[in-house]
Amino acid sequence: MRLDRFISNTTDHSRKSVKALLRQGLVRVDGTTVSDPALKVRPGQTVTIADETVAPAGPRYFMLHKPLGYVCATRDNRHPTVIDLLDEPNKDKLQIAGRLDIDTTGLVLITDDGQWNHAVTSPRRACHKVYRVETADNISPDTSVRFSRGVLLDGERQRTRPATLELLYANEALLTLQEGKYHQVKRMFAAMGNRVTALHRESVGAITLDPDLEEGEYRPLTPCEISSVTLSAEHSNPLSKTEN
Ligand code: URA
Repeated sequence: MRLDRFISNTTDHSRKSVKALLRQGLVRVDGTTVSDPALKVRPGQTVTIADETVAPAGPRYFMLHKPLGYVCATRDNRHPTVIDLLDEPNKDKLQIAGRLDIDTTGLVLITDDGQWNHAVTSPRRACHKVYRVETADNISPDTSVRFSRGVLLDGERQRTRPATLELLYANEALLTLQEGKYHQVKRMFAAMGNRVTALHRESVGAITLDPDLEEGEYRPLTPCEISSVTLSAEHSNPLSKTEN
């Protein structure tokens, strides 16, 4: 990888400011001062800026406990974003893997690995998402069967994929979805004549929101959590291969 790109990917420096660092003679590769931004950096080489080693940038994966009032967007003029909650360099490279509404709380996955993001969000991969739902009215007895058969949402031509509803209280349930249509949970309950009053995402695939994370807190995913997405997505939907 080009030296200027390597440094800008790994630090908060832009390609332009990297050029200034190179001109000032602050950059070394394996101990030798370099000035060429196009120099190729090979794996295993050590790059330093003012004697500080630049860590190689591997892909990053985080889970965040989204609070109410935050939007799942990289930028927003009116509301704080989930990205604002991260204290990380190069935040512009991070993507949100599956958005939640401003009034939904719970698990949000954030990464700069585009393929991994795709594995989480692609409808073909059918990564299951579990939501805890509270509703205005009691959940009617036929809701579970209707959700398992799929419901036709307002404005859609195809039914939702089979979803599992586990009733916890008269107006509270766990709902497991295999897809993530726009406002899907709220629209599914609206189709039943009910209204969602609180919504919280507990898990995505095999990744469950860490109970130690307070609202607004985040942590890196463990290697197991990271690899679970591709594995569970490949195995969880036998239809995915034939759909292509
Ligand atoms: N379904 C919704 O209606 N809202 C969300 O935030 C997530 C799923």
